[in-house]
Amino acid sequence: MTSAVDDVDPRMPVGESAPEDGPPRVGSCPLSARDLTVSFGPVIALDGFSVDIPRGIVGLLGPNGAGKSTFIKASLGLLTPENGAVFVGGLDTRTQSLQIRDGVGYMPEHDCLVASMNAVELVSYFGMISGMLARDSIQRGHEVLDFVGIGEERYRQIRSYSTGMKQKVKLAQAIVHDPPLLFLDEPTSGMDPKGREEMLELVRMIGSSDKTVLLSSHILQEVESVCDHVVIISDGKLVQEGETKALIAGEEGVQSLTIRGDEGGMTRFVRILGEACEIVEAKEEGGKQMSLLIRGCGDGSQIFGLARDSGVQIRRYHPERLDLEEVYLRSFRGGGKDGS
Ligand SMILES: Nc1ncnc2c1ncn2[C@@H]1O[C@H](COP(=O)(O)OP(=O)(O)OP(=O)(O)O)[C@@H](O)[C@H]1O
Ligand SMILES: [Mg+2]
Repeated sequence: MTSAVDDVDPRMPVGESAPEDGPPRVGSCPLSARDLTVSFGPVIALDGFSVDIPRGIVGLLGPNGAGKSTFIKASLGLLTPENGAVFVGGLDTRTQSLQIRDGVGYMPEHDCLVASMNAVELVSYFGMISGMLARDSIQRGHEVLDFVGIGEERYRQIRSYSTGMKQKVKLAQAIVHDPPLLFLDEPTSGMDPKGREEMLELVRMIGSSDKTVLLSSHILQEVESVCDHVVIISDGKLVQEGETKALIAGEEGVQSLTIRGDEGGMTRFVRILGEACEIVEAKEEGGKQMSLLIRGCGDGSQIFGLARDSGVQIRRYHPERLDLEEVYLRSFRGGGKDGS
């Protein structure tokens, strides 16, 4: 087989070298896409998509039909791109998909379980498909089923499982061979709140054991609570990406202020505040409260004096912080997180 070492692709991410043999080496950039285009007939699912996925837990966000599952399948070598390439740990999915398969785990969006098998049979079967010996895969199957919280039910046919149990077995089959890179396509889909939290805790534990997890989801709070990095995709194109902390940190120098008081006091306060610094945004909240975004108020000490003089109370005063929902919505309005 021609290795990428002999035939270096100029689009391969800088700093990655492709191993000649064996599963992918997960360096600082475990997964990269370059100008990736995938079409289904007239539908362009990925349209010149390029991204470098860093280590850690990475959220893949986007509306229905954005191309999330297509990107995951192309990364696994299950789809052939029309143009561009995907590199997994330096391996090219176009030519090295068999080697890639040993080093990746995949929890698909849709059902992938065999209803007539029990969980032990199924998970160990997937272990063997991934190259494990039968004896090892049975032992490891039990370990991962313990890890995901499937107890004695593991000996029952999967057809009798609840949706939450099936999701856990789907996760177990993805990790049975201990891959360094894991693709989880909507892992909490169909689960109740308790099940979702359990699944997210499992993802956190996997992420803390030095694995890279690419997780697609529609639930922004989930992504915010579990992912170190976020990639937003729409219409097959990259819209925005970055560290979660950096994305939700508001614009530098902008403070969020909430005041409470009567109408006259709040009007007075806003007028004199506007003379002292820039009011970026002011919103009334039910007559007795207002929230403001302000810029250029120095260390803010004068604000407390102005509030006292106007007879209003400061309820909250802190640097602007967005939630991921706001970041997501702003990215579709065509601007960055600052809405520009
Ligand atoms: N096998 C296929 N045949 C035809 N079109 C497809 C196929 N798979 C995906 N598509 C189309 O490609 C586009 C991207 O689909 P994809 O499943 O990647 O989106 P997604 O972001 O995963 O959406 P969702 O959030 O609904 O899972 C969509 O327009 C979809 O209809
Ligand atoms: Mg999908």
